[in-house]
Amino acid sequence: MRREDPAQGLVLSTTDGLTLDAEQLRTIRVDFQRFLLEYEFGLREVETKIEILRDEFREIHDYNPIEHVTSRVKSPDSLLAKVARRGVPPNFEDMREQITDIAGVRVTCAFISDVYRLVELLTAQDDITVRCRKDYIAEPKPNGYQSLHAVVEVPVYMSTGRVDVPVEIQFRTIAMDFWASLEHKIHYKYASDVPPELLEELTDAARTAAELDSRMQRLHRELHG
Ligand code: GTP
Ligand code: MG
Repeated sequence: MRREDPAQGLVLSTTDGLTLDAEQLRTIRVDFQRFLLEYEFGLREVETKIEILRDEFREIHDYNPIEHVTSRVKSPDSLLAKVARRGVPPNFEDMREQITDIAGVRVTCAFISDVYRLVELLTAQDDITVRCRKDYIAEPKPNGYQSLHAVVEVPVYMSTGRVDVPVEIQFRTIAMDFWASLEHKIHYKYASDVPPELLEELTDAARTAAELDSRMQRLHRELHG
């Protein structure tokens, strides 16, 4: 990258010969910030919905169906890397259409029954539109990965009007979450070169986690009927 005398107006040249002046750069930065902000707001809407369900269960039914909730907006770097990997045209419209996990929420429950109960309660809400639902609990991935994924659209009202923002929600149990975070770390450590015996062991561990979930579910049913 080449920087020229700021007094004469900043000019940035990339290695592929693209040249931008300060004004163009500022416009891109502001547009990108605004684009990501919509996802930040979409995330907040979904988080609030989940908090309300959790608090209602706690207060009225004296029961807590949620262990923890985490959420994130994809970082610009990670978003652009995915855009390049997927061959998505690098404009806002195509990114909005094709990258559905820019805003992501993960809901961890103790029991499988809570996972399904929450998915149903959330997706039944009037202002939530389900764009896609993948049940990797009913049908685990070949490596053993389990979770229920839903991409939902939630309306966000800005000064310019209503925007329907896609948010990916992953629902899983504590055991599924434990397995997925370890598997993620292992893949990160070995890049794409995980030793086959480790992969086998992971798949086996996923079976053990699923067994634990069924046992806990049975015990839970005995306790609560
Ligand atoms: P991505 O491009 O990775 O988002 O996947 P996708 O569009 O094919 O969707 P999918 O529903 O399969 O996965 C979405 C997300 O689920 C991933 O970004 C991960 O957070 C999680 N996930 C899916 N498969 C696995 C897995 O095998 N292991 C772990 N640890 N997480 C997974
Ligand atoms: Mg993803």
